[in-house]
Amino acid sequence: MSEVQSPTLQPSNAASASPPGEVQSGLEGVVAFATEIAEPDKAGGALRYRGVDIESLVGAVPFEHVWGLLVDDRFRPGLPPAEPHVLTVRSGDHRVDVQSALAMLAPEWGFGQLIDISDDEARDNLARASVMALSFVAQSARGSGQPPVPQETVDRGRTIPERFLIRWRGEADPAHVKAIDAYWISAAEHGMNASTFTARVVASTASDPVSAVVAAIGALKGPLHGGAPGPVLAMLDAIGAPERAASWIAAELAAGRRIMGMGHRVYRVRDPRAAVLERAVERLRAAGLRSDRLDLARAVEAVAVASLGERRPERRLAANVEFYTAVILDAIGLPQELFSPTFAVARVAGWLAHIDEQARAGRLIRPSSRYVGPMPETPAAA
Ligand code: COA
Repeated sequence: MSEVQSPTLQPSNAASASPPGEVQSGLEGVVAFATEIAEPDKAGGALRYRGVDIESLVGAVPFEHVWGLLVDDRFRPGLPPAEPHVLTVRSGDHRVDVQSALAMLAPEWGFGQLIDISDDEARDNLARASVMALSFVAQSARGSGQPPVPQETVDRGRTIPERFLIRWRGEADPAHVKAIDAYWISAAEHGMNASTFTARVVASTASDPVSAVVAAIGALKGPLHGGAPGPVLAMLDAIGAPERAASWIAAELAAGRRIMGMGHRVYRVRDPRAAVLERAVERLRAAGLRSDRLDLARAVEAVAVASLGERRPERRLAANVEFYTAVILDAIGLPQELFSPTFAVARVAGWLAHIDEQARAGRLIRPSSRYVGPMPETPAAA
């Protein structure tokens, strides 16, 4: 990985620059970092990882190569071929989620310390933590009452998606392997989104990488970010049939609510990942899977885009990645509560790449705010 220069906070272009002291709401348009990892091409609707279009990655290389490309800047498997045998974590009588599990296990693995992510051993430990998180989600999908799949059965899986599916179901349907692979590759990295920014902020304080990842998961699971697929599925269920889409969406917009899976801070065109995932669901269907939700989703998307376009013609609102994430994860039978954790385990790749880049840039992230609260009263002149 090469040196990255100038982690400066500056407006994206002179035309949109605000006067000094002006608040940039939501940091929109603010360029906070120089990065060699990825930044979505907002006008062209493309996403490239270190210069390689995701369209040319999906179906061509497995997810673990993309992990290697992002984290190590090398096209080779970045994840270990087997995962540590940690499948369930309990706190008292309760199973914990993947975010808490990582936080709880980190000190056991010696990750609670400040480590240099570019150190080979530390990086390998982080790779193991990533596959542990995948196994953890797979066992959660299997069901808390179900005994783990025997290790020798899991070891029949060659790729990480295969191992994930075997841990979950005891076997890896090739069509599902392709679907998971396409999803994880599409979800692995996306420039300076809220969770990646969070990870970089934590990393900039010289805290440890697992703390940065745990904080990033907290940002990811919000419904305006990676928590959207669950609500998208709920919306499709509530609509139920294509002919009900127009009235349902009109009522939501009239009530001032947002249509989940629509709109994006960066893209003004359809999110390129939506197309990748839509095609992946098509392939699942061609392989014999019944997914009525694909037709419904397409109908809802068309109505939503038209309705939003009428309301906001100047700001094109189109489908984002989460819209078809809901369809693909539902199609392979993943429980809805595991949608965000499954997203998180793919995005760990992007976060680690950014944590490393931030550590190399080595500058504390500390923007300013403009104080608009009460001021001390000026004493009356004598
Ligand atoms: N449904 C209805 N209106 C929407 C909308 C949506 N999904 N997304 C944006 N808008 C509207 C906003 O209400 C706002 O209108 P206003 O100026 O009249 O208040 C306008 O479009 C601009 O939205 P803004 O909130 O400035 O956009 P943003 O860049 O902050 O938001 C998202 C980006 C993704 C948070 C937003 O599009 C959204 O909430 N989408 C739904 C949740 C979702 O799918 N999240 C996953 C993101 S990958």
